Amino acid sequence: MDPRAIVAGICLLLFNSIGARGEGLSYNFYEASCPQAEDIVRAALGPIFLSDPTTPAALLRLMFHDCQVQGCDASILVDSSEAYASSEMASGRNFGVRKRETIDILKALVEAECPQQVSCADILVMAAQEAVHLSGGPEIKVPLGRRDSIVAPSSKLADSSLPAANIGVDGALQVFSKHGMTVEESVAILGAHTLGVTHCLNVLNRLNEAGEGQTKGAITAGFEAFLRLNCPQGSSASNLTFVLNDPTAAAFDNHYYKNAFGGHGVLQVDAEMVMDPRTAPVVQLFADNEAYFFEAFSSAFVKLSRSGVLTGDQGVVRKTCNAI
Ligand code: HEM
Repeated sequence: MDPRAIVAGICLLLFNSIGARGEGLSYNFYEASCPQAEDIVRAALGPIFLSDPTTPAALLRLMFHDCQVQGCDASILVDSSEAYASSEMASGRNFGVRKRETIDILKALVEAECPQQVSCADILVMAAQEAVHLSGGPEIKVPLGRRDSIVAPSSKLADSSLPAANIGVDGALQVFSKHGMTVEESVAILGAHTLGVTHCLNVLNRLNEAGEGQTKGAITAGFEAFLRLNCPQGSSASNLTFVLNDPTAAAFDNHYYKNAFGGHGVLQVDAEMVMDPRTAPVVQLFADNEAYFFEAFSSAFVKLSRSGVLTGDQGVVRKTCNAI
């Protein structure tokens, strides 16, 4: 064979694949089979986000919780059934996970145009990508070609794979290094908490670990009092009441880092990352420079989206996302 043809072939492979993690994904995966897939998802999400502005936060978290358990394979969308009595969603660590049905809606719209071509796993990643962009965040280019799982993980696997709500910096860095992220990218992906809310149930976990005024990490006395007032001990509604993750909880911006620096971080990891020598300089950088945060977030997001993906002839393209 002509050596130039071999070199050209290798270059094409390198261009289309993205290396060992997520091998088989490419930036033009649906060019022939469903070129309009991303446009369909984007067009549908605009009105959905307008009618419920809390949806972007929910979709971004949904993607993380899918990718964290058995890889980005849409397993989180599978409903419990006779075959899967206790699927992933039954895990307590998935408390508060919402909007799985939005992916079913998007899938139905894509199926109507390109039957059995586009996986639920890719649609979920596209939805999270749009959630970030339509909330004011970066426009992230994500490679596609994921396939859907044919097994639904147990709630036990979800229990052991998803981080506990009150994890600190050490635990968070461990979680993200498994996705090949640097410390900078790990701090950046935590910036997803620029969107959304935390229920009092999870705030109380953190407050209860310490006595009044003794809460670990950077927290002002005023903010601790605010959390204790809004999330009172012994309340039976702590799974319904919540606090905002940052003051601009519907906008994807760098307020999360400014907020943490001011001692107003809601989660344990928020309060620790501004004091830990590994992460504090990065938090400072992101608080000062939003464009730099957006860049690091984008590269971390792509790494997360490639976790444990099924490609080629692995897995399937499900017809409906909520059942295998
Ligand atoms: C160490 C890692 C992480 C921990 C311990 C953690 C923990 C939490 C907790 C406890 C909540 C509040 C849930 C509730 O009470 O309803 C939450 C919300 C959220 N998390 Fe994370 N998280 C982590 C990483 C991530 C990542 C990597 C993403 C996305 C890429 C993410 C996106 C979100 C979003 C958007 C919300 C708000 C959800 C809503 O408003 O519905 N989280 N997280």
